[in-house]
Amino acid sequence: MAVEPDHNLIDLLGAPDPALEAVASGLSRVYPLGTTINAAGRLEIGGCDTIELAREFGTPAYIVAEDDIRARARAFRAAMAARCADFDVLFASKAFPCVAVYQLLAQEGLACDVASGGELHLALAGGFDPARIYMHGNAKSSSELAAALDAGVGQIVIDSFDEIARLVTLLDGRTQRVLVRVTPGIKPSTHDFISTGQLDSKFGMPLDVARKAIDLINATSGLELVGLHMHIGSQIFELESFRRSIQEIAKLGDFPVYDLGGGLGVAYTAADGPPSIDSYVEAKVSAANAQLGPDKRLLIEPGRSLVANSGVTLYSVESVKRNVSTYVAVDGGMSDNLRPMLYGATYEAAIADRMGPGGERCHVAGKHCESGDMIVRDVDLVDPVAGDILVTPVTGAYGHAMANNYNGVPRAPVVFCRNGDARVVVRRETFDDLIVRDVS
Ligand code: LLP
Repeated sequence: MAVEPDHNLIDLLGAPDPALEAVASGLSRVYPLGTTINAAGRLEIGGCDTIELAREFGTPAYIVAEDDIRARARAFRAAMAARCADFDVLFASKAFPCVAVYQLLAQEGLACDVASGGELHLALAGGFDPARIYMHGNAKSSSELAAALDAGVGQIVIDSFDEIARLVTLLDGRTQRVLVRVTPGIKPSTHDFISTGQLDSKFGMPLDVARKAIDLINATSGLELVGLHMHIGSQIFELESFRRSIQEIAKLGDFPVYDLGGGLGVAYTAADGPPSIDSYVEAKVSAANAQLGPDKRLLIEPGRSLVANSGVTLYSVESVKRNVSTYVAVDGGMSDNLRPMLYGATYEAAIADRMGPGGERCHVAGKHCESGDMIVRDVDLVDPVAGDILVTPVTGAYGHAMANNYNGVPRAPVVFCRNGDARVVVRRETFDDLIVRDVS
């Protein structure tokens, strides 16, 4: 019996959602597009059997359905193309900064936003045209600014007066196009740690300060101000915040280019109901057309909503302990997914060859030396035993990106799957990698 839910596709393309909860297959809609349960009852991602993937590549491992990312990139471009003549979709690359993902999204015709010298290096290695790279950052160093100028990045997004002063000293006769990052004074409903649109923020400048920055840039030779940038936060479901923030920045005057940021939330569990890509784009573009004028060049910067649902993490179960609660401990944790610990983020989990429904109420624990290292709380798992392969979906965004070596745990590989073929695009770290930077 091969089962394939099509509701994730419905979600993506923005069709009405009554069908969303009709999960006949028992497979949650948060898995990558094209995910199936094969005849052996095993989860298949990108046509690859996850039990076989775990055997071949080891665990933990980030498994990515390449076609899922492509479909979402196309959905963003199509939604923009249907509504504006002059636009670009920028991959907010902090969400999944590895060369293969940059390459894939460059192939799909996206532009790219980078937030550090390191991300700039990766984007160039991934083949992005420097002219379509946007350099962000609230604390850009001189060397990062110099690297951006030397690479010929299309736009630098100015975040402070100190940055303007520093950039001018580095121009050396060159002219650089810039945007000014504005904080519109809108606080969206999301976790405080990933909310950036409020006035009291380390990012950008409130409207009154931005006016002075605009005047200064206009009076500075070598800097060409093309427009404004804003990004009000991440994992946002309510579209009204985006509309209101566009209304705010309209007060700053008329510019040819507006970068409206990212922020579209995704479903981490079947209970989440984010807007579709299409309705998100509709909200931003219609507000922009009404408030800023219909002839503007509009940019958006999706990160999470491009890549989150494309990826799952495979773990091996190392122990099952019944201590008041049932603790299913796996071979990863806060080194490969910090989001539950940083933001209280919730995930689903399942045993990859016994996907449910039903089972025993468990906590999925990591291997690290802290009680807070809990990947998923209160999840039903079917007969979990040591040696099982456990899967957590929706780890494509900010998983690999925020991976670390706590407890000397080597970082996990990234494996791309497509049409039944799997290829490693980031190899697993080795123990020798762990000491390679240590001197003496
Ligand atoms: N543009 C700018 C300027 C940003 O700072 C960000 C994300 C984005 C675009 C993309 O936002 P997205 O479409 O992914 O929501 N580590 C956190 C998320 C931090 C987001 C930082 N900025 C997490 O795991 O939830």
